[in-house]
Amino acid sequence: MGRCGHCGEWDSLDEELTAVRPAPGGGVGIGAGGAGGPGTAEPPQLLADVGDADRSARPTGLAELDRVLGGGLVPGSVTLLAGEPGIGKSTLLLQMLAAVARAGRRSLLVSAEEATAQVRMRAARLGVADDGLWVAGAADLGSIRQALAEMRPDVVVIDSIQTVGERNGGFAPGSPAALRLAAQSLCDDARATGAAVVLVGHVTKDGSIAGPRLLEHLVDTVLSFEGDRHYALRTLRAVKHRFGPVGELGLWEMAGDGLREVGDATSFLLADRRAETPGSCVYAGLEGRRPLLVEVQALVVPEGAGRRCATRVEAGRLAQLLAVLDQRAGVGLRQHDVYVSAVGGVRIAEPGADLAVATAVASAFTGLAVPADTVVVGEIGLGGELRQAPQAARRLAEAARMGFRRGVVPAGTEEVDGIGLCPAEHVAAALDLSLTGRPVPRPRLRVVGGQPLAGGS
Ligand code: TYD
Ligand code: MG
Repeated sequence: MGRCGHCGEWDSLDEELTAVRPAPGGGVGIGAGGAGGPGTAEPPQLLADVGDADRSARPTGLAELDRVLGGGLVPGSVTLLAGEPGIGKSTLLLQMLAAVARAGRRSLLVSAEEATAQVRMRAARLGVADDGLWVAGAADLGSIRQALAEMRPDVVVIDSIQTVGERNGGFAPGSPAALRLAAQSLCDDARATGAAVVLVGHVTKDGSIAGPRLLEHLVDTVLSFEGDRHYALRTLRAVKHRFGPVGELGLWEMAGDGLREVGDATSFLLADRRAETPGSCVYAGLEGRRPLLVEVQALVVPEGAGRRCATRVEAGRLAQLLAVLDQRAGVGLRQHDVYVSAVGGVRIAEPGADLAVATAVASAFTGLAVPADTVVVGEIGLGGELRQAPQAARRLAEAARMGFRRGVVPAGTEEVDGIGLCPAEHVAAALDLSLTGRPVPRPRLRVVGGQPLAGGS
């Protein structure tokens, strides 16, 4: 800085080296494993001689959250809950704090964004106002740290980290410097007091303005809370987790009285399915270790402008699949408008969904419906070849549980009880199998110079 933030004088600052505080992301001593946090050093020792830190997770009492966290929150750890504004972060954490309080542990909400009266109103709506949780309306970092030191909560939520700043000429809320300082100070406090700290971080639709990305290095765990605003379904995933596996999925439904856990995700997702409609195909998905059957729908409009529209399906992947269908399966859709959507509010991102998307499109194109008892799974290569999706047995067992009796799968998939498998090596063969078992009528091959161009099946 060329100018003093206090007196406004230029060039009046002297450099003075004190204990070095590592920069975030610098990787020194900030991790949970460090003995005393930034600035300390330990002599080399045999790894086998290093004592175990007590890193056992304690359940929060919200089953879906504990599933994602691999048991619960670890005392002395810092968790960042990231999500778009309005997705339900404050609601989720208020319900969590109430559950912690009901279990007889001290839980504190530091509300830096909303007045305590507003928090009280939300708590009343959720039916948790009298559950014994504490609330502090504070946005000043010093006051927050003091409250932590005095109250010594087991679990504390800071809502949100972007609205925490320093009073009296310090950092203004929301600046990268303020975010880093606040997060780092709270990390230190968590370690010193053994509190499990949860920071709320807003992200914007296009990713990462002024915020959570910057904090990912600092914290132990990053949770991403997502959902389509127009749907009730909310998903929670750990994108970084020092104390357990990432990839577990937690599911809630946003209702009038807060978030309700969705235990049986597949029943929830398939509730409104109208089977045997052309363009509909059920995909045996997997999120983390959790099997999830999702309906993929497609609509094909002939003689359109070649428009492609993908909802909760990756647009680039759809373009690739349409190219493969065109070149390898004789399903030419260049002049057609193609709309594809994953139903129910979940986003499908894994390549294992390829065959479902291709089947839905081909079904819409041909008008042939996929039989109601048929489920598909598999990745499609650029050559049109089918590849295994991981943990096929887990996916197909879930399909069998839901009453599916036929699975169109890549060749080599292991048999599963309760469902008959129809293996295929190529997308064209898989389409024949999934669309009623008959050969699919294809458009005539384009002919250039007397040689058919498309094909490959
Ligand atoms: P909120 O938790 O305030 O979101 P965030 O903290 O991520 O910004 O939730 C906001 C939305 O959730 C709001 O649009 C209203 C809705 N909502 C419900 O539908 N039911 C409820 O019980 C509550 C508390 C909120
Ligand atoms: Mg909020």
